[in-house]
Amino acid sequence: MSTDKEKYYQPLKLMLPIRYQYMKKIMLSKNKDTFEINFKNKKILDIGTGTGEFLEIFADIGANCLGVDTIDNFKVKKHKKLKLVKADLYQYLETIPKNYFDYIFCFEVMEHLDDKKKLFKLIKKTLKNKGILFMSTINKNIISKIFAIGLAENIFKLLPKNTHEYDLLMPIEELEKLCGDNNLSIIDVTGLKYNPLFKNFNFSSFQSLNYISAIEN
Ligand SMILES: C[S@@+](CC[C@H](N)C(=O)[O-])C[C@H]1O[C@@H](n2cnc3c(N)ncnc32)[C@H](O)[C@@H]1O
Repeated sequence: MSTDKEKYYQPLKLMLPIRYQYMKKIMLSKNKDTFEINFKNKKILDIGTGTGEFLEIFADIGANCLGVDTIDNFKVKKHKKLKLVKADLYQYLETIPKNYFDYIFCFEVMEHLDDKKKLFKLIKKTLKNKGILFMSTINKNIISKIFAIGLAENIFKLLPKNTHEYDLLMPIEELEKLCGDNNLSIIDVTGLKYNPLFKNFNFSSFQSLNYISAIEN
């Protein structure tokens, strides 16, 4: 694997703990079941799964996990509850029956997609009624342009150059519009902030850079 690929996927690992925490918080606000009960035997799709590592905990608690990515950089050990497929997410979702998944995850992928309208239509089709989409991405504004692209890629070199294209970033208003157009309900949108000292992410009321969201069908 090239150093650039390592550099691309490595910072994403720092986001895994906050995603689990977020899901726990959302599921607790919806029902009193444990994390395990909410996911056991449920069908999960992780689009743009990257290494696939985020799915391991869900597979371990008995969810049926499927990860899809155009790049095979999968890094998980063999697991009977976890399948990783090298495919384009648009083409793959076309093959999935209606009302199929209990959960869809889409973490740090929206900012790379040029047809979000199509993706939301496919999510609407393949997510069960009351199924939940968990997603995170980068907001689109002058602050994210300076920090997420300018500083992270060009000055601090935390990410390879050209990882992000400003035009593809998704502002929260676009998320709201896409959800409205597809009759999906936003349960929550929360900002995420990076702490360079502890190299971790925390929840924040500041939503102008990274944000995470839960959306119900
Ligand atoms: C920033 S990475 C996020 C990986 C993973 N979700 C995570 O957060 O660790 C974005 C991923 O989306 C994948 N991707 C981008 N466009 C895609 C497409 N059309 N179909 C499938 N995967 C795609 C890329 O290959 C890459 O692995």
